Amino acid sequence: MAYNLLKGKKGIIFGALDENSIAWKTALRCHEEGAQLVLTNAPVALRMGEINKLAEAVKAPVIGADVTNMDDLKKLFEESMKHFGGGIDFVLHSIGMSLNVRKGKSYTEIDYEWNKKTLDISAMSLHRVLRTAWDMDALNEGASVVALTYIAAQRVFPDYNEMADAKALLESVTRSFGYYYGVKKKVRVNTVSQSPTRTTAGSGVKGFDGFINYAEKMSPLGNASADECAGYCVTLFSDLTKMVTMQNLFHDGGFSFTGVTEPVINSMATK
Ligand SMILES: NC(=O)c1ccc[n+]([C@@H]2O[C@H](COP(=O)([O-])OP(=O)(O)OC[C@H]3O[C@@H](n4cnc5c(N)ncnc54)[C@H](O)[C@@H]3O)[C@@H](O)[C@H]2O)c1
Repeated sequence: MAYNLLKGKKGIIFGALDENSIAWKTALRCHEEGAQLVLTNAPVALRMGEINKLAEAVKAPVIGADVTNMDDLKKLFEESMKHFGGGIDFVLHSIGMSLNVRKGKSYTEIDYEWNKKTLDISAMSLHRVLRTAWDMDALNEGASVVALTYIAAQRVFPDYNEMADAKALLESVTRSFGYYYGVKKKVRVNTVSQSPTRTTAGSGVKGFDGFINYAEKMSPLGNASADECAGYCVTLFSDLTKMVTMQNLFHDGGFSFTGVTEPVINSMATK
């Protein structure tokens, strides 16, 4: 069911790789709610071609940008503003990549050059996006920026590896830039801390199957799906959440505040 929550709003969606991506589902949901969109991803991801299906479905242009490249970001915002004929009302940052995870290096043996790249792509990229918008005055008054994160920023999940540090930095950038952009233009910046979800990035984490089943058992409402995450992002892009900023918002079926559940106790019982 659609509520027209984003009627007249214009947004940029980063990170739709394939139909499992959280960004993909969010783009579909924003379109249903009346938003106009620009889709963007790294040039290497665009070469897969999947995104063109989404572009057709949501009637949006696709503009390539590597989030670690300031020229790409400038071009993205320039072309988006030209396409919309004005400023931008919301941005979804749905980007994550760990070189050390990909190359099978454990946390205690990470390669620091790869680590720098991971932090740049997965965390400082939010600063780069906000900084580009700031310098170009690209965001409208009261605009909303949402980035996706995971609870490994607060609690240890060993196989999440260096991405835990990346998410902690991402959440810190959210608060710090959120302060400045709030004062300057009432722009809101928040992170959504999502349940484990079967996507390309998610499934890259070692032992993901055990991990997602455990989270399901530890969440009173069960794991939140990518579709449900999309719905939550829509509320954050809407005018109904105008006064919410600099927050890390858990969208995890209650996992973050649950000590233990009966199914987990039962699975541990010796008799
Ligand atoms: N899947 C999960 O379990 C889960 C849980 C919590 C949070 N998240 C977060 O959600 C976000 C989206 O991930 P997803 O699970 O939908 O997986 P995904 O693999 O579909 O999306 C990750 C995206 O990052 C993009 N990306 C990587 N490097 C880039 C670069 N240099 N420039 C621009 N884009 C680049 C990829 O092309 C891809 O589209 C990530 O921040 C992820 O950490 C995922």
